Amino acid sequence: MSKTIVIGACGQIGTELVIALRKKHGNEAVIAADVKNDCPALLADGPYLKLDILDRESVRTLIINQEIKEVYLLAALLSATAEKNPDFAWRLNMEGLFTILDLAKEGFVSKIFWPSSIAVFGPTTPREHTPQYTIMEPTTVYGISKLAGERWCEYYFNKHHVDVRSIRYPGLISYTSLPGGGTTDYAVDIFYQAKLGKTYSCFLSENTALPMMFMEDAIRATLELMNAPKEKLTVRSSYNLSGCSFTPSELTSEIKKHIPEFNIEYAPDFRQAIADSWPKSIDDSQARLDWDWKEKYSIDHLVKTMLENVDPSLLNG
Ligand code: NAD
Ligand code: SER
Repeated sequence: MSKTIVIGACGQIGTELVIALRKKHGNEAVIAADVKNDCPALLADGPYLKLDILDRESVRTLIINQEIKEVYLLAALLSATAEKNPDFAWRLNMEGLFTILDLAKEGFVSKIFWPSSIAVFGPTTPREHTPQYTIMEPTTVYGISKLAGERWCEYYFNKHHVDVRSIRYPGLISYTSLPGGGTTDYAVDIFYQAKLGKTYSCFLSENTALPMMFMEDAIRATLELMNAPKEKLTVRSSYNLSGCSFTPSELTSEIKKHIPEFNIEYAPDFRQAIADSWPKSIDDSQARLDWDWKEKYSIDHLVKTMLENVDPSLLNG
């Protein structure tokens, strides 16, 4: 049995990715690992390990001894949290990547998934339909770490034949777990307040357009990229990926179709400057060409699904 590990499994993406991978490979073949003591959503169905990605020796021992061949490395600080602790964010976002890339270079790991972000772009990047190849001058520590990570992934592929694959995820929207401290989190928070019948205080201004994607699409994209034949992949830094783009005001109008009395007010904070430096929409034609990517969720489908499934009791921990 070839084993897979998801590191950072308890987060917004990990909780859904582990379930999808277990469906595909079998529960016992997919190890969920995170620095957290446990993860109730994942413990029941398969192996769970407490693991700190910064503990290089423990990670190496685990992967080598258990003969783990496929690694999904999700542990990171996201954009807003990273700005509050830039030194640690740089360390966490980079050191773990080197640990896994080196294991692949030495032949212990055969395939790596490492997510990048729309945060690799910056204020000098064309903001509409941002191309795969363009100016990249990120201004956040998160964006700088993701851009550096992309360059290292491509370097390890070119120099050491490491099969590392990556997606520049847009803001991800989901209902099974809460987001972990990003600038796009408003587009998840808003649904909880709408369901609770409360006015939502939005930390971005009403006309801030950002690229977004429903989690089901993001998980499917991840699995499709990881399944794609090696020779079809022309991008070894990270693929642009697009779902749908919208502003807080457009999202509110869509929610109001289901909850007409819903209200939003705007109180932009430090995250506004981050959002203003990111693309409004993404050109993902290379992903469509190379591995037949196509999104399923438009804004109306996404809003309907979120409102049907969001459970405000999640907010109580
Ligand atoms: P998240 O914050 O929800 O989850 C990250 C997980 O990593 C948490 O469970 C956390 O406990 C764990 N972790 C933190 N430090 C760790 C350590 N030292 N060792 C092991 N685990 C540790 O993040 P997410 O939204 O699931 O994002 C996962 C990855 O996807 C990140 O690399 C992020 O940059 C990237 N990404 C996410 C989005 C998004 O919208 N969610 C968009 C673009 C890129
Ligand atoms: N959703 C992420 C963030 O806002 C984008 O990488 O940080």
